[in-house]
Amino acid sequence: MLKEIHEQPEVIKATQKNYLQEFFNDFESKFKNLILNKKIIFVGCGTAYHACLVGEYYFNKYTNIDTSSELASELRYKKINKDEKILFIFISQSGETMDTLMALKYIKKNKHSSIVITNSLQSSMVREADVTIPTYADKEVGVASTKAFTCQILSLANLSIEIGKMTNSISKKDYNKNLAILKLLPIKLKKLIINFTPEAKKIAKKLSQSDTCYFIGRNIVYPIALEGSLKLKEISYMHSEGFPGGEMKHGPIALIDKKSLTICLSPNNELYEKSISNAEEIAARNGKVIILSSVKIQIKSLNTHNVSLPKENFIDTPFIYTIPLQLISYYFALNEGTDIDQPRNLAKSVTVE
Ligand code: G6P
Repeated sequence: MLKEIHEQPEVIKATQKNYLQEFFNDFESKFKNLILNKKIIFVGCGTAYHACLVGEYYFNKYTNIDTSSELASELRYKKINKDEKILFIFISQSGETMDTLMALKYIKKNKHSSIVITNSLQSSMVREADVTIPTYADKEVGVASTKAFTCQILSLANLSIEIGKMTNSISKKDYNKNLAILKLLPIKLKKLIINFTPEAKKIAKKLSQSDTCYFIGRNIVYPIALEGSLKLKEISYMHSEGFPGGEMKHGPIALIDKKSLTICLSPNNELYEKSISNAEEIAARNGKVIILSSVKIQIKSLNTHNVSLPKENFIDTPFIYTIPLQLISYYFALNEGTDIDQPRNLAKSVTVE
């Protein structure tokens, strides 16, 4: 897993290079008919589902298309409106997950169109879908997905700005600006991995004094909070939950006590103040808090610790907040002595229902 975490700058670079020079060239002729006048539903399981949720925020920002996400295992048993034109975008590292594959077959039966975003070009989903968008994460061996996830969100970032440009919902200037940010991403992430590693080791030690760990985030880092929590559960077996910051007051805050640690994702955006006030509410109830933010914060409370992350733009935010959480989970699981690459009860690809 550590190797795959460290490979992210490289595979992101390879994926982006391919998209720019090949795959997303002649975007209109490849995608126009498939996309226009349709509602989009993203579908996946586990980590891939969290990529779906990130996709929703990208599409909401850069396009005027309505999108939503479905867990594949739920979609399979739901009624789908046959009259509405829907494009389903399936996300799957392996392209073989049974729930996702069956959901793809199900929507096909109902005559809807499909795209699959996958790391496995020889897979069953590729054979079923109308169009395949490859990720170039190379083979992922660790059961807990890392580099496949960041390549999936890179794919969604590109798809959303390409659609935005095609439909004039973003300007040519914004499109170019975002492409330039994505191009610089590998260097930024390489530095982040190096700089954050000592912090991850310190946070891992703090975690061992807690019974439970919560992750909170708003907007595009809300799915990252879910993903951070999933990574921690998968490889360390520690109890963990991810919440949207705004929901804390509607229930989860009742869980906070001095044996809990909350990792608060607070990028420098219009929700920053609200996110910090969530962190303060948790600290005021004796919960330990770690704030990950690109803003240097003056911390008042003793049980709150701030770790700086690089300055982010909207499009690179999910990457910058994902990698630190992967490193925290990894170093914590290492201290716990679990089998990180092959955690108990889990399989890399679940090909049964
Ligand atoms: C399994 C793995 C998860 C993965 C999920 C979906 O449950 O343990 O790490 O996110 O399957 O896999 P897929 O290959 O469809 O992305």
